[in-house]
Amino acid sequence: MAAPDLFRRRRGKGSLTIAGGRVIDPQNGIDKKADVVIENGRVARLESGKRLTDKQIEAGRGVLDARGRVVCPGLVDLHVHFREPGREDEETVVTGSMAAVAGGFTTACCMPNTEPAIDRQEVVQFIYYQAEQAYCHVYPIAAITMERKGDLLTEIGELKDRGAVAISDDGSPVPTAAVMRRALMYAKQFDLPVASHCEDPTLAAGGAMHEGYVSTRAGIMGIPALAEELMVAREIELAGETGGHAHICHVSTARSVSLIRDGKRRKVHVTAEATPHHFSLTDELIPERFDTNLKVNPPLRTRADVRAVIRGLQDGTIDCIVTDHAPHAPEEKELEFDHAPFGLIGLETALPVAIAELVTTGKLTLPALIELMTSRPARVFALDAGHLSPGAVADVCVFDPEPVYEFEPGRFFSRSQNSPFCGRAVQGRICQTVVEGVVVFDRQR
Ligand code: DOR
Ligand code: ZN
Repeated sequence: MAAPDLFRRRRGKGSLTIAGGRVIDPQNGIDKKADVVIENGRVARLESGKRLTDKQIEAGRGVLDARGRVVCPGLVDLHVHFREPGREDEETVVTGSMAAVAGGFTTACCMPNTEPAIDRQEVVQFIYYQAEQAYCHVYPIAAITMERKGDLLTEIGELKDRGAVAISDDGSPVPTAAVMRRALMYAKQFDLPVASHCEDPTLAAGGAMHEGYVSTRAGIMGIPALAEELMVAREIELAGETGGHAHICHVSTARSVSLIRDGKRRKVHVTAEATPHHFSLTDELIPERFDTNLKVNPPLRTRADVRAVIRGLQDGTIDCIVTDHAPHAPEEKELEFDHAPFGLIGLETALPVAIAELVTTGKLTLPALIELMTSRPARVFALDAGHLSPGAVADVCVFDPEPVYEFEPGRFFSRSQNSPFCGRAVQGRICQTVVEGVVVFDRQR
C-alpha cells in the first residue's frame, strides 16, 4: 500500500535527540528513562535525568518526543525474502525495506531464493546496489549451491568478499550430507554461518501442512515433524564434526528444540531462529478457515510444538526471532490449499504479535523479547547492529507498547498482503524507525 508521506529516504546521516522514552538496550543491560543523543548517524550518548523539560521536548527541533514510548535498538531480521531479482511484482528490496521499517526493523538479511539465485558475485553486488535506495540496511545471504540445486558449491570466499553475511539454500534443503559437510568446512574458513532449511525432501514430498490428526481429518497431505528433525540432527552432527557454524532456520517442532539444546550442551557451533507464526499459530487453524496464508514451510505445528518453541526462546536454545517474511502474489495464494505456495508476510506484524503472545502472557519480559530481536540476531550473523552503545550506528525503533488492536487486510506496506494475522488481537505499535539518525518511518507524519 502506498502512503509515501510516512516514509523518508535515507539521505546522509542524521543528528537527533530521542527524548523522554523508556530506553531498553539489552546488550548493555539498560532499561531506564533516558534521552538518546544521536550525532552524525551514530549514538553519541544516553542522558538520563531530566535534561530536556516537557516544554523543550514539545518545541524542540531535532527532538523526537518519545514520552510514554519504548526506545530500543532497531530490530534485526536474519531471514526475509525480498524477491528481487525476479519477482518484483511480489516485493523488491525497496518495498521490502518499507515493510521492514514500518515494523521497526532497521536491518534485514535477504534470502537467495530469487530468480536468478544469489549465487554469484554479480548478484550479491546487485542486492547492494538496490539496497542503496532502501529505507534500512539490507544484506544479502548467498546460496550454498549453484542455482540452489544442491550439488555444486558456490564460490563462498568470493561471495563473502562481496558482502554476503551468510550462506543458505533456504526454500530448499541441501539434500545430501556430503554437500552440506563440504559447505560447513568451506564456510568455516571464511567465518560464515551456514543457515539450513531443515527438511528431508523424501519425507516432506507432497505435503501441504503438518502431518497429524488435523491433516488426516482435513484430508490434506502432511509433512511429518520428522522431515525437519532428521535434518536438524544431521546439521548438528556435521557442525560438530567440521567445526563449522550451522544456523537452524525457522525451528518448528519440539524435538528440533531438544536436539539443538543438546547440541549446544555438547558445545557444537549451532544457532537457531524461530518465527512469530511458529510460536503463536497451530495447525488447528487450517481446517477452520482453509486460509492459504496459513500455509508455510515448515508448517504450523501442534500446541505442544508451540510450547516447546517458546521454551526454547526462554532458555536461550533458540537464539533469535526472525520473520521469514515471504511475500506471494494474490493470484498464487488464491489457489486451493494444496496448490498455493508456502509463505506469509511477517515484517509488519512481528513485534506486535510477539508482544501479545510472549510478553502480555508473561512468558518473556519486554527486554528479553527485544534482546531476541536485536543484539542476539546481530551476534548470530556477526552484524554491527542491535545495540545503543556510544559510537554505535544510530538505528533505533520507537514504539508504543500499550495499544491492543488488529491488523486490517490490505493495509500492509509490503507489496504483498499475504498475512494470516489480520483480525487477531496484537499489542504494541511502531511509532518511528530511525536509521543512521534519520527518521525513515514516522506514523505520526
Ligand atoms: O514458507 C516459506 N516460504 N518457507 C520457505 O522455506 C520459503 C519461503 C518462500 O520463499 O516463499
Ligand atoms: Zn525463508
